Amino acid sequence: MNSQHIETQAIRTQIERSSFLEHSNPLYLTSSFIFEDVEDMRASFAEEKQRNIYSRFTNPNTSEFVSKICKLESAEDGYAFATGMSAVFSTFAALLNSGDHIVSSRSIFGSTNSLFTKFLPKWNIETSYFKVNEIDKIESLIQPNTKVLYAESPTNPAVDIIDLEILGKIAKKHNLILIIDNCFATPYLQQPIKFGADLVIHSATKLIDGQGRVLGGVTVGRADLVREIYLFARNTGPALSPFNAWILSKSLETLVVRVDRHCENALKVAEFLENHPKVNTVKYPFLKSHPQYEIAKKQMKLGGNVVAFEVKGGVDAGRTFLNSIKMCSLSANLGDTRSIVTHPASTTHSKLSVEDRLETGITDGLIRVSVGLENVNDIIQDITQALENVD
Ligand SMILES: Cc1ncc(COP(=O)(O)O)c(C=O)c1O
Repeated sequence: MNSQHIETQAIRTQIERSSFLEHSNPLYLTSSFIFEDVEDMRASFAEEKQRNIYSRFTNPNTSEFVSKICKLESAEDGYAFATGMSAVFSTFAALLNSGDHIVSSRSIFGSTNSLFTKFLPKWNIETSYFKVNEIDKIESLIQPNTKVLYAESPTNPAVDIIDLEILGKIAKKHNLILIIDNCFATPYLQQPIKFGADLVIHSATKLIDGQGRVLGGVTVGRADLVREIYLFARNTGPALSPFNAWILSKSLETLVVRVDRHCENALKVAEFLENHPKVNTVKYPFLKSHPQYEIAKKQMKLGGNVVAFEVKGGVDAGRTFLNSIKMCSLSANLGDTRSIVTHPASTTHSKLSVEDRLETGITDGLIRVSVGLENVNDIIQDITQALENVD
């Protein structure tokens, strides 16, 4: 089975059929499962049998979704969560103790940053940060109590790339747990475990659903670590709902064809923007001008669906651009069939100091485009007319 291609695994990984011999997997909307007798119940709770007990622990739909992600990421085991953030939080809460230390990339998703700066310190867990272009400084940040090395690549929203192979080597040398948020790449474009990651996290809300319908998250990787995460989640309740798991498992069946087209459209948008007179810079992993182009080529199959560009004229120009957009959506999500534009400096990252913003690559005029699946000429047409309004 492992020799099957990713498209086949995403379609043909299926839990056991019911007595109706359905072709497409049904939805198991049940909170609990029944036992034959008291001995069956005892043995099930003692984990002498592998079976569903209660949908906070496992459910056939979540199991199918998790086994697909495990195959696509070459992971041993996993657990599915209600959101990407519950996956991030539960992973750290399960694995860290009071007094532990994290070394993390500075360019991480806003809520993950809040977890590190506002919440984990309440349990005496501190974080030190490295900039994406300073991975040579990582080793100097490692302390005797450092337990986790954490990063995202490509980063949100500046689309920087971090060399996963180097992170893998550092983690191994210092016996750290390497955790990679692989949300922007999806398991189709990048498999961090191959570069030494111990755990991989996804917000399934993005390209894995791909149609802007449901929230979900998943952590996969080393079985011993996933066991700790499972025990934490089983007792604290951040489980993915069976309905959302069913949706996400169906979505995975089309992941490869969707992501291929997303990437094709995104590259065309990036190439168009690169030649536009009102644009200072464009960042897209598979553009030769990207500062980490060679690393992106080494670790990613294609460049992903997010393009970041810096419109000339700073914050005001960024706001004018967004106000002039007609077809693309102004929305906080990404990885949808619908193209989405955001201006981080005046919205999602407006509370950061200018210095902190710039450190994570968020310049005043930075626009993030989550390139969707509309005809690419219509996407480029909308961006063109919006740029005409920028002075
Ligand atoms: C890189 C990254 N990680 C995690 C998350 C959190 O995911 P969710 O919104 O599903 O909780 C997001 C959401 O945008 C994200 O972009």
